Amino acid sequence: MLKKCVQVLAVTGLIVAGSSLCVSAAGEDMQKQIDGIMAAIPKFAVPMREVGDRFQNMYFAAEGGNWGLASYMSKYMDKAMNPAKLTKPKEYPAWESFYKDDFAAVNKAIAAEDKAAFNKEFNAVIASCNECHVGMGYGFIQVKKLAAPADQGIEYKLSSKATDVPK
Ligand code: HEC
Repeated sequence: MLKKCVQVLAVTGLIVAGSSLCVSAAGEDMQKQIDGIMAAIPKFAVPMREVGDRFQNMYFAAEGGNWGLASYMSKYMDKAMNPAKLTKPKEYPAWESFYKDDFAAVNKAIAAEDKAAFNKEFNAVIASCNECHVGMGYGFIQVKKLAAPADQGIEYKLSSKATDVPK
């Protein structure tokens, strides 16, 4: 499009004055496309559904001694929030510090394959999940522990090591 503009303006002899206009028109077009892409990338609500499911699954994996699966669930629970780095740059750091600080004890228990510690820390961190919900105006979304995993199609009672997750 830019090339076409420059050609037209060159013919009319206005290339110097006109080319900047064309550049800004092309820039606007690109901005519209970027805005369109940004609007299509999930913000918090969609990845939070995945966070919720992976969080619940993690519990049953640890319970079943499938530490590789528990570790995997934790890793991808965090990665699920990546789109928010782009779409919610102001809010994303709150998630980042939650995972790095509040969730560290859960990750530590998984790494240690320590069921008792995992149980304690998993139950305790639910309050931090909900604190963030309250803080961001979503106090009506209260996480509770499920009686069964969110995803039924995985074997939770498979013995594995936390270090089994490929890098
Ligand atoms: C950084 C703050 C923050 C943290 C930490 C956080 N959440 Fe959320 N969560 C939100 C926000 C904000 C929403 C509402 C999404 C929206 O409308 O944008 C939400 C929504 C949800 C939902 C509902 C999703 C839906 O639309 O069905 C679930 C489930 C959820 N969170 C689970 C969790 C769990 C489990 C944890 C802890 C492991 C957690 N959240 C930690 C901010 C947070």
